[in-house]
Amino acid sequence: MPIHTSPTSWVIETKNTGYAIGLNEAGLLTHRYWRARLPFAADYPAPVNPIERSSFDMPQHYTPEEYPGYSALRYFDPALKITFADGTRDLVLHYVDFSTSASPYPELALHLKDEAYPLSVTLHYRVHEEYDLIARWVTLENLGNEPILIERAFSAKWTLPHGDDYFFSHMFGRHNNEYNMKREVLTPGLKTIESRRLTTSHHHTPWFAIDRNATEDSGEVWFGTFAWSGNWKITAEVTEFASTRISVGLNDWDFAWKLNPAETFVTPESISGYVKDGFGAASRLMHDYVRNILLPHKNQLHKVLYNSWEATLFDVDEISQSKLAEVAAGMGIELFVMDDGWFHNRNLDNAGLGDWFPDKTKFPNGLGGLIKNVNALGMDFGLWVEPEMVNPDSDLYRAHPDWVIHFPSRARTEARRQLILNLGRTDVQEYIISVLTTILSENNIQFIKWDMNRNVSEPGWSDAPGDARELWVRYVQGLYHVWGTLRERFPNVIWQSCSGGGGRADFGILHFADQIWISDNTEATARLSIQEGFSQFLPANTMEAWVTDWGRNVVPLEFRFHVSMCGSLGVGGNLNEWDQADRELAAHCIRLYKEIRPIIQFGDQYRLISPQKSMFSAVQYVSKDQSEAVLFVFRVYLSDPTNLPMIHLRGLNPTALYEVDGYSGPRSGASWMEAGLRVELKNLQSKILKIKQVE
Ligand code: GLA
Repeated sequence: MPIHTSPTSWVIETKNTGYAIGLNEAGLLTHRYWRARLPFAADYPAPVNPIERSSFDMPQHYTPEEYPGYSALRYFDPALKITFADGTRDLVLHYVDFSTSASPYPELALHLKDEAYPLSVTLHYRVHEEYDLIARWVTLENLGNEPILIERAFSAKWTLPHGDDYFFSHMFGRHNNEYNMKREVLTPGLKTIESRRLTTSHHHTPWFAIDRNATEDSGEVWFGTFAWSGNWKITAEVTEFASTRISVGLNDWDFAWKLNPAETFVTPESISGYVKDGFGAASRLMHDYVRNILLPHKNQLHKVLYNSWEATLFDVDEISQSKLAEVAAGMGIELFVMDDGWFHNRNLDNAGLGDWFPDKTKFPNGLGGLIKNVNALGMDFGLWVEPEMVNPDSDLYRAHPDWVIHFPSRARTEARRQLILNLGRTDVQEYIISVLTTILSENNIQFIKWDMNRNVSEPGWSDAPGDARELWVRYVQGLYHVWGTLRERFPNVIWQSCSGGGGRADFGILHFADQIWISDNTEATARLSIQEGFSQFLPANTMEAWVTDWGRNVVPLEFRFHVSMCGSLGVGGNLNEWDQADRELAAHCIRLYKEIRPIIQFGDQYRLISPQKSMFSAVQYVSKDQSEAVLFVFRVYLSDPTNLPMIHLRGLNPTALYEVDGYSGPRSGASWMEAGLRVELKNLQSKILKIKQVE
């Protein structure tokens, strides 16, 4: 068991890291160490006992407490903020005892209790030894007779080694432009990234990395993410005397939770790790964790899909979709997905959401006819839904106007002419479970794209069970309940999470979905950079990527294919307008993709030259046994004459011999990595090179 315990100290070890906690002389649960694993449990430093520096700088403020509540002389950003029934807003947590368990993963639980009030706080640590990751979360329990108001309950505070000379990396964006990486100097004060939108959001990603001088391949990186699909918050705080800490948790903005007697509140998981060898290593640990531990269908290859959304928009029916299906099958597509427009009265975005049964004009015989045609062509069938939404022009809304999130005294602000059903309500949850159960049990559907196309407004809930501000959390709990129930009922269905592209990409939703639609922006050169950002925390097999007609007059079809082949390949162009040459090229690329997809979807990813920094970029995927690899190289636009950079491969066995497509003679892995290779490309040209071990 990788957890060493004593009555006053706890050491968690993963394959390469050590994490230590202990009680200091004042009895405070104190963080001791988080860095490379040390040879002996006794090697980890003792808890610090800060001295009183002045009446303004008292020890409590300087103790790196593992999970500090707002209390006494603490002025930094606390992890927990509570108001007790008598109005007391001060929390004095005392350590009580600990417990450990081993299955399915080693876990440590540290039990704390307020010294006077009936609140118990348990800090949980789950150890993923192989992946050098620790998952932390917290359980709060009301042991008394009166309600307790939780105003903030973060999942973890992560303390960095003493110092205030760190860089903070995070990803920001917007619809159509997700996952832009920013690495900035962390200065004294609080830096916050968050979502207040009810979903994870396109605008900031619940991911962080902290380093001093790390690069893609070298240097220490502390990194983490938050497994939650609603409002979240990550803060990085540097205080006096070189103390740097990261908080991760549910966003406390507009949040409160009434914890009634005998009730518990469990926070989502904050998952973090430490590596010595750069951002790439951090990403690869997360990729393996997602593929091996998190995803519902672990290690299942994703099929090449077709989706006509960009080609036909809402204009779908049995005949035209069947025609597209024929062309798609001819190119080697394995899964045909019908997007928006198939359900009752859905001709534009102004009507229909909520009425989840096939439109009678477009599908007079239901979906069965189309599905039969698709299956007869040897393809699986998939369907788009947006179950959390309702158009005011729908039978559902006319019957249940009270089901949407709203304040009774306010107008209901529409976005894309739709409102959000309150998934915190059990009647709404039951409705969605029931309509989707009907669709899935009546039809042979293998894949569902679950969309969510707006953010919240007027976040009211007049008959909420507790505090109305619980909506933020109850909504997501409701979503997980609905999706979880459907997953149990239809275990073979592959689900994709979409929220107008990458608005809901997080470790929480990947308990249910195997894939993410990462952006509505399918223009290939923009996509290069979006895809790279996504790879900071999620693996290629979760990244659905379509080849579309966006930019077709400028960007060659082969380039567009190569970009999408870096993930889980899909096609989304208007196949009716693809000529014979296009279709043949597509068939060729799909064939090649099928050959190399195990390496892309399950291998180790190396970001060799970043498209976020350069118009000439390269990314490589290496099979786990290092016997095969694939190199993708892209040149977007560089003025000529230009000097293209050398490409240094990564992840090969240095002493084994490898051949690279188009290069004469085998060379050692060390040579390909150290001496590198040059790939000559013209503007808007790309190449895929297969790499094979020969000895
Ligand atoms: C969102 C999705 C698109 C498409 C449309 C349909 O924008 O991201 O891929 O499904 O909705 O309305």
